[in-house]
Amino acid sequence: MEAHRLIADAREAAANSYSPYSHYRVGAVVVTPDGDEYRGCNIENAAYGASICAEANAITTAAAHGVRQIDTVAVTCLDGDACSPCGNCRQIMREFNVRRVILTDEAGEPVEYALADLLPRSFGPEDLK
Ligand code: THU
Repeated sequence: MEAHRLIADAREAAANSYSPYSHYRVGAVVVTPDGDEYRGCNIENAAYGASICAEANAITTAAAHGVRQIDTVAVTCLDGDACSPCGNCRQIMREFNVRRVILTDEAGEPVEYALADLLPRSFGPEDLK
């Protein structure tokens, strides 16, 4: 099943996590409407606030390759029961019109959400037009 495969790929991405401070390895995979995929992991910094989440890394990598529309983001972590995107990453997802977010439950099984449910009544690009 696609969701299982994407979570497996996110786990692979998490293996490259640079997280010497939290020891919390997160991986993310972005899928475009054309089926192109981009991966990212969290990259921490001694100045903690300069750290980059896995989702932000994957999404900005996709954007740097010219992607402007994202269908799905899959996220998982290797060092906890389950992880859920922070508010900042939900807003970054919103910018690129993410439709579906795949997370994992405590057993590592994929669980799908609509971004609209994770970030209700959101502010986005249309609000500035
Ligand atoms: N983190 C992510 O990369 N994505 C999430 O969805 C949750 C948190 C990272 C940020 C930091 O490097 C570490 O996990 C602990 O907060």
